[in-house]
Amino acid sequence: MSCLNVPMVDLRRQYLHLKAELDAAIHGVLDSTQFILGPEVEAFEREAADYLGTRYAVGCASGTDALMLALRGAGIGPGDEVVTTPFTFVATAEAIRYVGATPVFVDIDPDTFNLTAKAVEAALGPRTRAVIPVHLFGQPVEMEPLLDLAAARGLVVIEDCAQAFGAELHDRRVGSLGLAGAFSFFPSKNLGAYGDGGLVATSDEALYQRLRSLRNHGTTAPYTHGEIGYNSRLDALQAAVLRVKLRHVDEFNARRRAVAERYDAGLAGLPLTLPARRTGTHVFHQYTLLTDRREALRQALREAGVASAVYYPIPLHRQPAFAPLCGELRLPRAEAAAQRCLSLPIYPELAPETVDRICEVVRQVF
Ligand SMILES: Cc1ncc(COP(=O)(O)O)c(C=O)c1O
Repeated sequence: MSCLNVPMVDLRRQYLHLKAELDAAIHGVLDSTQFILGPEVEAFEREAADYLGTRYAVGCASGTDALMLALRGAGIGPGDEVVTTPFTFVATAEAIRYVGATPVFVDIDPDTFNLTAKAVEAALGPRTRAVIPVHLFGQPVEMEPLLDLAAARGLVVIEDCAQAFGAELHDRRVGSLGLAGAFSFFPSKNLGAYGDGGLVATSDEALYQRLRSLRNHGTTAPYTHGEIGYNSRLDALQAAVLRVKLRHVDEFNARRRAVAERYDAGLAGLPLTLPARRTGTHVFHQYTLLTDRREALRQALREAGVASAVYYPIPLHRQPAFAPLCGELRLPRAEAAAQRCLSLPIYPELAPETVDRICEVVRQVF
């Protein structure tokens, strides 16, 4: 088979597709010379809140900061425990440490890769104050039982939506279900900027006001600082890019789903565990399967010129940065997923014929 040359994500194709709109938006910001916060950022915040179904949205410097700001804004700090999943990007738990709280990791549902209310309930203790469900790979966490549990136990729910912009659960968008939703606009995300960026969505007025202050040095009035905050603002160039892409994000997500369905059909019947769609509308930030033959598959894909990736090879309770907090904790389902997971290329512009050829490479391994 000839070399396919398929990357995990192809941002250039998307830029060329939207070039006229994006270039005009970027030049508009250059002409305005309003680069940090300002009207472009405010317009994006309004449009994002409308799209997500929250009353407010606050732009910030990254998805990591969005999580940290949401936690701090909700009053989580030293001495508090925050329950989350170990099968996620490190930033989820880093943000918990930034505010001085302690992450408590619970095992995942191997079908969805996400944490469950049952596992969270078993991990609750006297110091538990919050839970961070991560809608991993774009698949919504089963939120209903988790929200019920949180309401019964007085826990704050902060959704990590970094990989799930536009995912829906029972006709509501993720990020609008908990007290706050934290989003990342890292360029490869479903809604990606051309640099770092993040956003907290919330319908809570007090949290909204505090987030606006915290992201900008704790400013409460010009040159008046009510508390120590951060320099974590969204810049106008990123907001302008995001406003353009927001208009297309439903179409991007629909195309991602179409790619996922084509993979499902092309890989059916092989001894692989394909991604489940147990909850809501999956937006396939990643197409991640489970296999006992990961190295052989990766090798065959590499030889055919197809990228693949392992998200994530080491669960957080086994990471050197977190292991000292976790003692002998064993989370067998997360550990097994880390051993067996493999993500295939997925992006809106990936052609059906290319997906078919990737499936053919996989089929030949079996
Ligand atoms: C699940 C998850 N949480 C948080 C983040 C952090 O986002 P950022 O890279 O914008 O800081 C990411 C992305 O990189 C992520 O995938």
